[in-house]
Amino acid sequence: MKVSGIICSPRKNGNSEVLVREILKSGGFEDVEMFYANEMHIMGCQACYYCDKHGECAVQDDMQKIYEAIEKADVVAFGAPVYMFGLTGQFKLVLDRLFAFLGPAPEFKSRLPVGKKAVLVVPQGYEDSREYETHIDQMKNAIATVGFEEVKVLSAPGLNAPGEASTRPDLMEEAKKIGQSLSHA
Ligand SMILES: Cc1cc2nc3c(=O)[nH]c(=O)nc-3n(C[C@H](O)[C@H](O)[C@H](O)COP(=O)(O)O)c2cc1C
Repeated sequence: MKVSGIICSPRKNGNSEVLVREILKSGGFEDVEMFYANEMHIMGCQACYYCDKHGECAVQDDMQKIYEAIEKADVVAFGAPVYMFGLTGQFKLVLDRLFAFLGPAPEFKSRLPVGKKAVLVVPQGYEDSREYETHIDQMKNAIATVGFEEVKVLSAPGLNAPGEASTRPDLMEEAKKIGQSLSHA
């Protein structure tokens, strides 16, 4: 199985990365490609609608590497921490550009091959995981619309220090279970 991890936190070895790596390790995946959105040159969507006519994005930047990886991947794990009650800037840039996988309105039919799975890893400082349920549902819907048949979520509350997730057996266990379930799919 081909797998991609897309880390949309600016922190290397932060909680998003720790949990995404645990998922990928537990899945036993061999063909893994990691992307760090913060280190890539990714412009915001230019709303040119070139993708509507041509089936691909006109903007030639590092997002092209992510498009190629997603087209080939069976599983994509997004590290998407909560910033200011919502998405990090890095994830918003990626997410908007994934619009290029959609056909024209009103159907917005995905061009991605069927059967892909995604997992959203959502670390957050706040202790109560219910706080961001709406935000997480919206991200989940957006990723499903892009063309992922199944979107799993690991909501990880109470995390502040970078990499603190590795000291939380509950979250590491949940990551492990998600990884195993993805590999058996
Ligand atoms: C600019 C900024 C905004 C944040 N906003 C929130 C927030 O609104 N709610 C929350 O629970 N945590 C918030 N956090 C905390 C992060 O979600 C938390 O530290 C998370 O573990 C970061 O993931 P990472 O280690 O992968 O970077 C914020 C952190 C930063 C730096």
